[in-house]
Amino acid sequence: MKYHNFENGDRMPVLGLGTWKSAPGEVGQAVQDAVSLGYRHIDCASAYENEEEIGAAFNGMISTGSIPREELWVTSKLWNNAHAEGQVRVALEKTLADLQLDYLDLYLMHWPVSFASDIFFPESGSEVQAPDPASLAATWKGMEDLVDAGLVRHIGVCNFSQKKLAALYASARIKPEMNQIELHPYMQQPEMLSFCQQHGIALTAYSPLGSPDRPEFLKAENEPVLLQDTTIQKIAEVHGVSSAQIMLAWAVNRGTSVIPKSTNPERQAQNLAAADIQLTDEEMNQIAGLDRKRRYVDGAFWCLEGSPFTLQSLWDE
Ligand code: A2P
Repeated sequence: MKYHNFENGDRMPVLGLGTWKSAPGEVGQAVQDAVSLGYRHIDCASAYENEEEIGAAFNGMISTGSIPREELWVTSKLWNNAHAEGQVRVALEKTLADLQLDYLDLYLMHWPVSFASDIFFPESGSEVQAPDPASLAATWKGMEDLVDAGLVRHIGVCNFSQKKLAALYASARIKPEMNQIELHPYMQQPEMLSFCQQHGIALTAYSPLGSPDRPEFLKAENEPVLLQDTTIQKIAEVHGVSSAQIMLAWAVNRGTSVIPKSTNPERQAQNLAAADIQLTDEEMNQIAGLDRKRRYVDGAFWCLEGSPFTLQSLWDE
């Protein structure tokens, strides 16, 4: 396994297990299967509504001594309804209780989007708020306080545009060390990659396989299906591996971490092995040519009528 090395010496396995869309009743087993296969990085979020079941799986493995806590890398995310001062720690403590852990390796702000504490998912655009610099700074201070308190070892963000990330980076006392964003051959974000490399910020690729199991409201007609891309399929044939493995290998070969979701042990094993596949420069170039700036998780659900966001202002594009 390859690792991302943080400045303080901590190291995160570059390939982790995604748990978004892992169904209740399945996710606990999926986490146990993954750890048995050798996964040591699990990506969670309170918004996935499955942290309690993951926590039971962690506790089963840690309390029996089959896996020491410090050998696991656990990430979770602060939901958008807990950005207010005083809410950040409450939300983290709930996640820790659900996951049955006493610290997280990495805690991320899930979106640069806020709503009131009694809303889980806004039904109208008017319930969405765009955090102004002062409120974003207050939320980030709450994140920094968690590091000071020893409750989380690293902090970062998700779904931040380069502009939003640069502004946070400039004002933060503890710099964001991670941006977790949608990255795959159809959504490559090369400028973001070089910005993050220059600033010592790591990137994690979500939806690396194009999230074919994403909810219906995120699907559109005539979408390109990443797993059926013929260029990727040809490279996969040369290596004698699957298309999914080539996409994960591409993510690792370009220097990002990657968190494919699977609840199937065979596919989990395949995905884990992909981190060690070496692609040639020529193959990397061929995949670079596939970019079409296509988001599968485009954030349109935050941009309903009455929202302060449009897709352009959400992504600063
Ligand atoms: P399953 O959980 O049944 O394995 P993403 O990580 O981009 O969100 O994609 C997750 C989706 O891709 C899930 O539907 C998952 O199904 C499927 N998947 C995960 N690994 C593979 C693989 N190696 N080959 C094909 N599909 C995969």
